[in-house]
Amino acid sequence: MALASPVGIDIGGTGIKAGPVDLVRGTLTAERERVETPRPATPTAIVDSVRGVVGRLGAAGGFGITLPSVVVQGVVKTASNIDATWIGTDAVALFSEALERPCGVINDADAAGMAEVRFGAGKGNRGTVILITLGTGIGSGLFFDGVLVPNAELGHLHLHHGDAEDWAAESARERDQLSWKAWGKRISAYLELVESLLWPDLFVIGGGVSRQADKFLPFVECRTPVVPAVLHNDAGIVGAAMVAPLAR
Ligand code: BGC
Repeated sequence: MALASPVGIDIGGTGIKAGPVDLVRGTLTAERERVETPRPATPTAIVDSVRGVVGRLGAAGGFGITLPSVVVQGVVKTASNIDATWIGTDAVALFSEALERPCGVINDADAAGMAEVRFGAGKGNRGTVILITLGTGIGSGLFFDGVLVPNAELGHLHLHHGDAEDWAAESARERDQLSWKAWGKRISAYLELVESLLWPDLFVIGGGVSRQADKFLPFVECRTPVVPAVLHNDAGIVGAAMVAPLAR
């Protein structure tokens, strides 16, 4: 019997998106489902929302799940854009029990980076590739020769009197009503900080706003080549599915 497609579930500060994934092509095999992230985004509330989403998908494979958190061996260590009660939660055990299916759990930007490095803008690139997701926060996926160094939290580097993400994320552009040019300057300052520390060969810019890369990338200047993500908002779902254990 053929194995069912794994399901990727991407849990962000704003929305929860899910879909079954073809891991040979790196594409969704069905229309994705989306719901708003519940507020407060406690473990119980998120598990309920995820149950609803996967119920509507009706898929049969294993689940790979992202969280906007540092995740070490399945245990959540930080919670920037979800409720603090996640900290210390064994997310693999929680989701596997609640969804009655084997689950893998990974940081959201690590997942998006895995998808871009395998199927998208970072494909075939050797050396150090850093995916930066610009959304509610700033996520980062750090790769060397295609191998992930998990949980690089580069969105929390200190820049402009605080966390870089508070000043340069997409949410900061909206909050401060910045023009694309003004935001591009903030992104440049941020990327210059990252490149001064890690000397990457390539930056890939992801997150939903990467669809509008032609509006702000012309204003982004730094030493390292910068390219937009190819999988856009689906990268998190595809990358999540890459960590789904096999379901039989
Ligand atoms: C979190 C990261 C996450 C990023 C994007 C940050 O605030 O610390 O773990 O990847 O937001 O969601």
